[in-house]
Amino acid sequence: MKKHIISTILISGTLVACSPGTPRLGKSSIDDVIAAMTLEEKAHLVVGTGMEGFSGDSAVVGETKSLVPGAAGTTYPIHRLGIPAVVLADGPAGLRINPKREGDSATYYCTHFPIGTLLASTWNQELVQQVGSAIGNEVLEYGADVLLAPALNIHRNPLCGRNFEYYSEDPVVAGKIAASYVKGVQSNGVGTSIKHFAGNNQESNRMATDARISPRALREIYLKGFEIAVKEAEPWTVMSSYNYLNGIYTSENLELLTTLLRNEWGYKGMVMTDWFGGKNPIAQMLAGNDLLEPGTPKQLEMIINGVKQGKLSESVLNRNVRRILEMIIKTPRFKGYQYSNKPDLKAHAAVTRQSATEGMVLLKNDNKALPFSADVKNVALFGCTSYDFIAGGTGSGNVNRAYTVSLLEGLKSAGYIIDNTLKVAYEKHIAYENKRNTPDKSNKYATFMPLPRPTEMTFSQQTLKEQAAKSDVALITLGRTSGEFLDRKLNDFNLSKEEQQMLKDICQAFHAAGKKVVIVLNIGGVIETASWKETPDAILLAWQAGQEGGNSVADVLSGKTSPSGKLPMTFPIKFEDVASSANFPTEGKMSSMDFTNHGKKKSEEKLWDYSDYEENIYVGYRYFDSFNKGVSYPFGYGLSYTTFQYTNPTLKTENNVYTVTVNVKNTGQVAGKEIVELYVSAPVNAKLPKPEKELKAFAKTKELKPGETVVVSLKLNATDLASYSEKESAWVVDEGSYKFLIGASSRDIKATLKTNLSASSQKMHNILNLQKPINILEK
Ligand code: BGC
Repeated sequence: MKKHIISTILISGTLVACSPGTPRLGKSSIDDVIAAMTLEEKAHLVVGTGMEGFSGDSAVVGETKSLVPGAAGTTYPIHRLGIPAVVLADGPAGLRINPKREGDSATYYCTHFPIGTLLASTWNQELVQQVGSAIGNEVLEYGADVLLAPALNIHRNPLCGRNFEYYSEDPVVAGKIAASYVKGVQSNGVGTSIKHFAGNNQESNRMATDARISPRALREIYLKGFEIAVKEAEPWTVMSSYNYLNGIYTSENLELLTTLLRNEWGYKGMVMTDWFGGKNPIAQMLAGNDLLEPGTPKQLEMIINGVKQGKLSESVLNRNVRRILEMIIKTPRFKGYQYSNKPDLKAHAAVTRQSATEGMVLLKNDNKALPFSADVKNVALFGCTSYDFIAGGTGSGNVNRAYTVSLLEGLKSAGYIIDNTLKVAYEKHIAYENKRNTPDKSNKYATFMPLPRPTEMTFSQQTLKEQAAKSDVALITLGRTSGEFLDRKLNDFNLSKEEQQMLKDICQAFHAAGKKVVIVLNIGGVIETASWKETPDAILLAWQAGQEGGNSVADVLSGKTSPSGKLPMTFPIKFEDVASSANFPTEGKMSSMDFTNHGKKKSEEKLWDYSDYEENIYVGYRYFDSFNKGVSYPFGYGLSYTTFQYTNPTLKTENNVYTVTVNVKNTGQVAGKEIVELYVSAPVNAKLPKPEKELKAFAKTKELKPGETVVVSLKLNATDLASYSEKESAWVVDEGSYKFLIGASSRDIKATLKTNLSASSQKMHNILNLQKPINILEK
């Protein structure tokens, strides 16, 4: 027998033997590499290497987990074929890795950027792309390959525990913001994973709940944002979600992952599961779910046996392997990039500080309470969150940052004097409350879960009178935190009785002394505002603004920056007003932790076992505006320190492209940016029922100086006006007269233009149908 000369090469720090003639990824064609792989190697490649403490192939777990400690997952290395393990790491607000490593004095902190909802509130695609680019730079410089973000599920209901990671109740906002984020991250030569595809709109029982959604609502609302992001930004990967969709796990759904995603939308990238998502690895492979993360030995065994028993053809496995290899070949790790472990955290702190101010929404500003006038120096600072500012949510959306700037620190740096007695009292109270609320050590998920917030302090009338006498203004922060695994409960949406008391008493005492009261909302999702919003003078919705949060808020309060965010969702008057409220669990049931048994159908179904999306296409403002319901703050709403005037609206049509222009003038005293929203109302006699109006495009101006005018131009295609007809399985444009509404919010329409459209239709596949009918809300 001919003796092979064995050569040794160095891959990822490991000495590997390989014989000449063995194909190598990058040197040989992917076909040749696949042809050289054994069945076991192929199965390994489509199954991740496991998750420390949960699952894993101990032979490789040590090697791959040390690549970037704390990263969520890796692919399986096959050194003899030149295939490295590549690193997949969360998440939407910045890279989530361990900040410290054993036996290493260096630190690996990442920047906590603003949460997704805040980024969407900027309505500024350019800015989101810049933030994405800074996040992607940390991914690259810390040695990761694919960022598990952005997350763009629709805000169907205010109580979803992960709304803070998501963008909007509107698919155009969600899709466009996600596309910008993806472009920014991927400009670094690293990948993204748009998630969670699709219908993952609640955390309650998320691994076994069935989202029952009509094909029309799917196409127009829940899938639309993903379609925009896929077509405009070509994310390297897509992450399927945990839930069932119309009776089939999304990760096992051929119609979703192949017919729709690849055949209809033309997606060329790779699909991975959410962590431990789905049940049947063979069905997942067949559906076009290429990679199972984080990977378990059981999945490996089932895939190998599946091929041997003829349940899974090797050509399907080869197809999935190919998509993974095509992804790997693009990664910095494959290309041998020498990462520094030293991204410019200072520069990124400046990016997060500035971007956060642009997504803050000024909800109320009576008598110019904001920005603080020059004679405001002494600030009475109330609310636990003022001293313990919330940078972001919990779970995989958290970022291990070096610090969080509190509002106290931010205001002090901006030159304000903070009352010390209040500071001492709050710090003592918070320390006591946090001790009471320590994580339950017996629950291994506890570190991922939000701790209960400290109960708010209330004060005697005498104390408040004294505070009002010695301070120029009162600032109260209301805080909320939420995260993965759990939805918020109704009492998290409403104000607690201590919060209500605190607000009432402070407003009374300060107003009696002729002083103003400003509320800062440090929240990740919508809360009740209607019952108390009349009481304070100003309300600034600061969201969870990342690690520089206190500085960003101070920049806005002081007037250094004019707030220019607008709401990407509606603030309802009460929870029950939300169209999905009757079909959403309000008890905050924990998601199933039983990874092996999830999906077991119970004989008696409860609200967390399934959710009938009865509101159908009427999500958010589409519901409130179509059914003439009052709201506390409408979709698209937000004030500025300046004012804007809209003049000279025009509409031009050329080759089925509609161009709307409008002049926007800054008519106030300070510089500011304005967001222009373009809605369309379909003809009254349209064949399909239509929402009263739907957002089709938006734009944000540059910063306009007082008196400056800019021409804003918005484009859309005739096909953007189509609705999905289930009867015809087609996108259908009805003939007739369409209204183009130029708005400063969904309820502040500045100009209406009209045009006639002719009928057209585009056939799609008849897929993703409900297994049995559900009640559908109709106008
Ligand atoms: C989350 C994903 C995340 C993954 C990896 C899952 O629990 O749903 O969003 O990317 O964990 O951490």
